[in-house]
Amino acid sequence: MTQSFQKVRALTGMKDVLPDTSAQWETLEAIVRDWLAAYGYRNMRAPVLELTRLFTRGIGEVTDIVEKEMYSFTDALNNEHLTLRPEFTAGMVRACIEHNMLYDRPHRVYALGPVFRHEKPQRGRYRQFHQIDVEALGFAGPDIDAELIVMLQRLWKILGLNDIRLELNSLGQAHERAAHRAALITYLEEHKSVLDEEAQRRMYTNPLRVLDTKNPAMQAMANNAPRLFDFLGPESLAHFEGVCSRLADAGIEYRLNPRLVRGLDYYNLTVFEWVTDRLGAQGTVCGGGRYDGLIELLGGKPAPAVGFAIGMERLLDLWTQSQPPVAAPECQVYVIHQGDAAQRQAACVAETLRDAGLSVIVHAGSSGFKSQFKRADASGAAVAVILGESELAEGKATVKWLRQEFITDQVQQDVVALDQLVNVLKTRV
Ligand code: HAM
Repeated sequence: MTQSFQKVRALTGMKDVLPDTSAQWETLEAIVRDWLAAYGYRNMRAPVLELTRLFTRGIGEVTDIVEKEMYSFTDALNNEHLTLRPEFTAGMVRACIEHNMLYDRPHRVYALGPVFRHEKPQRGRYRQFHQIDVEALGFAGPDIDAELIVMLQRLWKILGLNDIRLELNSLGQAHERAAHRAALITYLEEHKSVLDEEAQRRMYTNPLRVLDTKNPAMQAMANNAPRLFDFLGPESLAHFEGVCSRLADAGIEYRLNPRLVRGLDYYNLTVFEWVTDRLGAQGTVCGGGRYDGLIELLGGKPAPAVGFAIGMERLLDLWTQSQPPVAAPECQVYVIHQGDAAQRQAACVAETLRDAGLSVIVHAGSSGFKSQFKRADASGAAVAVILGESELAEGKATVKWLRQEFITDQVQQDVVALDQLVNVLKTRV
């Protein structure tokens, strides 16, 4: 009796990155790492899994992320409540506190990797996605807020992206938000008849988020609501002015968006997003801001901080729109052989070529020359090295250039002594 096995598929909203696409990821990641190094940012890596309370406390109980998007479970072995990170910031801050990094000096750090949110998948919105997360910990002044934004502008320039717009706002300090909140709740109470169910549920717990509504029936109410900006005191305004003047120095345009509140509760003062029309409904490429209270909230010695995260899939989507991907070759040299002895010799020759820094694939198994050439061609290699019985007997190999750009003087094929092989290949590949 034959048994049939069912295919196991990837989870909804979680994408496989196949080799051709992965090559683009790696190129983009290399550009990003160089860009971050140019500003003195150092990489760090925190676990993907953390205690759930890190995120409920850090991100806020009444946020979409914590209320409905976290992958949380109870560890059956010790009953701990755990969550797959829905963002980096809380975990990065936890790690810096745990390792006493913030006692003596500030730190510029970054992390790249997957984060998880149980959202409804669509273009640019996934359940496992990747962030480039950048955090400047221990810095209080508007100079760093501005530097982060200038830095992002530079990345867009490096990548040739010119239609990403900056939206900016200030959320002030806690006491200013409290005064605004009281005024806002009064206003929402006066307009209760136009509030939808979600807004009514949130008006006392997170009234600011009520204004972030997409409900057309609530737009007029939201537009006329008391603005947090009008509640900012002189210090907050000076900080904001400090950011704006530095952006002007750098020639960076922005739109002041008083409705920009972001979906995480830890922010104060500067918040910003970079948005584009080229990604459909999910147009926010990057979001960030200042979070001066989070380090203390997570048990550390109070210290200011500011940062942002870029959605890697969205950035890649934008980048490949302007820079069509070129499939990277699997190797530079493809070794073809005929007969058992030649196959064994091929493995040794390939090691010598690798010693010289070449990337080499030796045809696996034994098949006819024709099918081996077909594979060599499909690999994208610049050159095939052929070891047949006659070549082997003479201590030679045939070198066949597979791509037009490597052929010189019309000579596509040549017989080369094995001890000359590295020299011949290295001069052209
Ligand atoms: P966030 O705005 O929640 O901020 O996410 C940052 C970026 O991640 C978004 O602008 C977007 O590009 C991308 N993103 C968010 N959700 C998805 C999704 N479901 N699928 C694909 N991409 C997505 C934060 O996470 C903050 N921790 C940023 C930060 C760092 N603030 C201060 N430091």
